[in-house]
Amino acid sequence: MRGEREGGSARDVAALLREAAERLAAGGLPTPRLDAECLLAAALGCERAALYGRREAVPPAATARFAALLDRRAAREPVAYLTGIREFWSLPLKVTPAVLIPRPDTEILVEAVLGLLADRARTPATVADVGTGCGAIAIALAVALPGAHLYAVDVSPEALSLAAENAHRFQVEKRITFLQGDGTAPFFATGLAGALDVLAANPPYIPTAELAALPPEVARFEPRLALDGGADGLTFHRHLAAGAPRLLRPGGFLAVEVGAGQAGAVRALLAGTPDLAPLPTVQDLAGRDRVCLARRHGPAG
Ligand SMILES: C[S@@+](CC[C@H](N)C(=O)[O-])C[C@H]1O[C@@H](n2cnc3c(N)ncnc32)[C@H](O)[C@@H]1O
Repeated sequence: MRGEREGGSARDVAALLREAAERLAAGGLPTPRLDAECLLAAALGCERAALYGRREAVPPAATARFAALLDRRAAREPVAYLTGIREFWSLPLKVTPAVLIPRPDTEILVEAVLGLLADRARTPATVADVGTGCGAIAIALAVALPGAHLYAVDVSPEALSLAAENAHRFQVEKRITFLQGDGTAPFFATGLAGALDVLAANPPYIPTAELAALPPEVARFEPRLALDGGADGLTFHRHLAAGAPRLLRPGGFLAVEVGAGQAGAVRALLAGTPDLAPLPTVQDLAGRDRVCLARRHGPAG
């Protein structure tokens, strides 16, 4: 970055982007041009698409903001933490380093839940999201299911407060009850035993020993609490399977995201849980098993 450090002259968008992308590429970042565009748009306070038609030079103050963002990206800080926004289910959600950055794969979980409730889109389904983070799953479901009430739990107060802010942003806050606590415990404490139509979760599922080998963006910047799934990555899945038969209505569903290579073990866990029957696993767009499903025995209520 030349201009701003040499006295703050205005710079041309194309030249700024070219230099930035070259720098990020030289640092081994996988999507240098895209990252540079996102960061320049953030520095200018505009949409990324607006960069293409922009004729005016970038003013020195914005060039300096861009340079600072670029330094942080070169140190592998995720773009979403730098811009403060990540789109999920076409909803631009606010994210901070207190929460996992929502992944496109998790949209498969949202789709799967909508499929399970296909005939109930406008009826008052009761749906829980355990480990809600920035609220991605609960908010997407609340938007897609206007008749539903959501319960969103996280052990992290910072995550819950951000999730509540995001819910307000998309005007679904009146249909989401946020509960702070450990796993499914807040549902039992709130008298929801036997009341849930769906218990959904994208839980922490990375085996502890594999955390250090994750890409630096994840290992160094995303909260360990959101990643660490215990020795085999499945601590949370066992907890959910144990709670599901008592929390779900007869005929209600458990929908849980899994990591690479975990679906077989989770299916076996669900098959071995009294009162639950596994349903076919849902694959992501790359054809990997991504969402394990089970149904509580009994007629749908
Ligand atoms: C993988 S992140 C998922 C975040 C969000 N649902 C998503 O899909 O982007 C897991 C979340 O579980 C939360 N969490 C971890 N341990 C928990 C616990 N014992 N009880 C409740 N939430 C927990 C973390 O704070 C984190 O927000």
